[in-house]
Amino acid sequence: MRPAQANHNWQADQKGDPNLPEQKPQYVSAFRALSGYVRPHIWAFIGVFCCTLIAILSDLLQPFLMKIAIDDNLLAGKNDYKGLLTICAVYLGLSVSSFIFTYVQNNLLQNIGQSIVSRIRKQLFGHIMKQSMRYFDRMSSGSLITHVSSDTEALNQFFNQVLLSLFRDGLTLIFIIVMMFQLDTTLALYCLILLPIISLIAISFRSFMRTTYQIARTRLSRMVAFVAENLSGMNLVQVFHQQKEQEKQFNERNGLYFKANLREIRTNVVFGRTFDILSNLSVAFVTWIGGNAVLGQHLEFGVLYAFITYIRQFFQPINTITQQWNTLQSATVAITRIWTVFESKPDVTDRDGRDGEGIQPDKVKGRIDFDHISFYYEEGIPIIRNLDLHIRPGELIGVVGTTGAGKSSLISLLCRFYDVKEGRIRIDGTDVRDIPQAALHRAVGLVQQEPYLYSGSIIDNVRMFDESISREEVIEACEFVGADSVIQRLKNGYDTKLSERGSGLSAGERQLISFARIIVFKPKVLILDEASANLDSHTEQLIQNALHVVSKNRTTIVIAHRLSTIMQADRIIVMSQGEIVEQGNHNQLLENGGHYRELYEHSQGHVAV
Ligand SMILES: Nc1ncnc2c1ncn2[C@@H]1O[C@H](COP(=O)(O)OP(=O)(O)O)[C@@H](O)[C@H]1O
Ligand SMILES: [Mg+2]
Repeated sequence: MRPAQANHNWQADQKGDPNLPEQKPQYVSAFRALSGYVRPHIWAFIGVFCCTLIAILSDLLQPFLMKIAIDDNLLAGKNDYKGLLTICAVYLGLSVSSFIFTYVQNNLLQNIGQSIVSRIRKQLFGHIMKQSMRYFDRMSSGSLITHVSSDTEALNQFFNQVLLSLFRDGLTLIFIIVMMFQLDTTLALYCLILLPIISLIAISFRSFMRTTYQIARTRLSRMVAFVAENLSGMNLVQVFHQQKEQEKQFNERNGLYFKANLREIRTNVVFGRTFDILSNLSVAFVTWIGGNAVLGQHLEFGVLYAFITYIRQFFQPINTITQQWNTLQSATVAITRIWTVFESKPDVTDRDGRDGEGIQPDKVKGRIDFDHISFYYEEGIPIIRNLDLHIRPGELIGVVGTTGAGKSSLISLLCRFYDVKEGRIRIDGTDVRDIPQAALHRAVGLVQQEPYLYSGSIIDNVRMFDESISREEVIEACEFVGADSVIQRLKNGYDTKLSERGSGLSAGERQLISFARIIVFKPKVLILDEASANLDSHTEQLIQNALHVVSKNRTTIVIAHRLSTIMQADRIIVMSQGEIVEQGNHNQLLENGGHYRELYEHSQGHVAV
């Protein structure tokens, strides 16, 4: 069951900061959604409940046994050694039973908690992977990492600490009260007077701890986000010698987190000590009242002994329950944050009930129509304006234009990373919105300026971990684009493990591998977005040659920085501010004497310098 189906009336404010969900209805439904995960484990929970019950009874019967030993045996003067031995044996038995059932209960609960959390983690990752690009424009990877790692961990604590405490300590409290009344009603009533006082103190600390806790969490996640961002932009940081500055910023965040933590710990200590003192005072109180009664012969000594033991045990569960407040807070924040992630639906989705329609990736002819499309990322800032472009099957199209002209955005629309705001884009006459994304991405292959390589072998990187593609096919593709000689030079050849993002290879080598990746997948429409911008002239030549062969019988769109890359194109599109300002082949455009000629002369000038 997916969480999206598990919760019904969820209304997340998608525009709000996803890191700070604080409305009540949100976490109510988050907990309701969570209960969907708990249901399959209901029998295990019942098991936990029974074990807890037995463990508590084993614990709480011990003082009662002592009372029997004192009043009915020792003070009765019966010299009943056998009876005393039996009581001791039962006492031992209770201790063992408490140990065993506590152990089983803990294990069982850990098991439930961990399996629920691991399932949520799995779904969370899957869900994040399904989001549209727009989502990643908004969310920093740092906060997404926090959601998958520490937020799910907080959820785990919810099961193993909060639930356990509510179970165990709640039941203990109830049993102690029952036992007290069983022993002596008057003394029990006196003890109950303490209850509101303890509760009052606990509640007043609560609100204080809540804020302290949240501040600490927020600061931690800011610090983590900062580290994540820095790691992914490490080379930039180093190139610009920003280490000192970044370090300063990190230290600031670290210092803030440190302070928040100290404050949290201080609050906890003060609270804990207050409770201890209160507990001691209560013992004195019971000793005074009960002692008087014993002296006045109204109360048996054993009962007083049992009472004093119980009143001590009385504080411990209240203390633990209120300490769980912290954990409950973090769990609530975490659960709400996780469900906010679950709640965000991808903007770009496959249309329902159109499975049979669309296109077959292998049979695509490659006709592409941009019918008067308009697009913006932010309302009011148009990126593509009423653009109309029709590409014939097999045509080789070059696209040029200044940076920010909207070239990459146009490609993003064709790949459906985003949806157009007006007009439509068709492949072989079918609106891309009617093509299942899987089929679309199989039909349209994209090589970007910054190729992304995964940690894994070169073989796996080329075939994108798709085992159905054979090793031979991979090698053939690499030979084809001229990557083979580069790869052969590596220590383990095609089995060389690449580290994260393919560091250890030059930009050109990475690009060659990503180019081979596209060849292997044989898309009917091939797009290169400034794929050769980073390449040295030798590697560019390799790509150029490969492109020449690959573009045959295949619709190819090449966005290029250097005009030399696209001079041979059937048609060159010049873009400026989201519009096509010129089109034609190289010679026609030069004759026109417009933007293209300007760009051309500019580039020639650069070469000459
Ligand atoms: N994800 C995004 N969110 C908001 N604005 C964007 C995003 N991507 C690009 N832009 C903006 O859109 C405009 C066109 O960008 P782009 O299509 O990348 O241009 P080009 O590839 O021609 O250099 C730029 O002004 C850029 O700032
Ligand atoms: Mg671009």
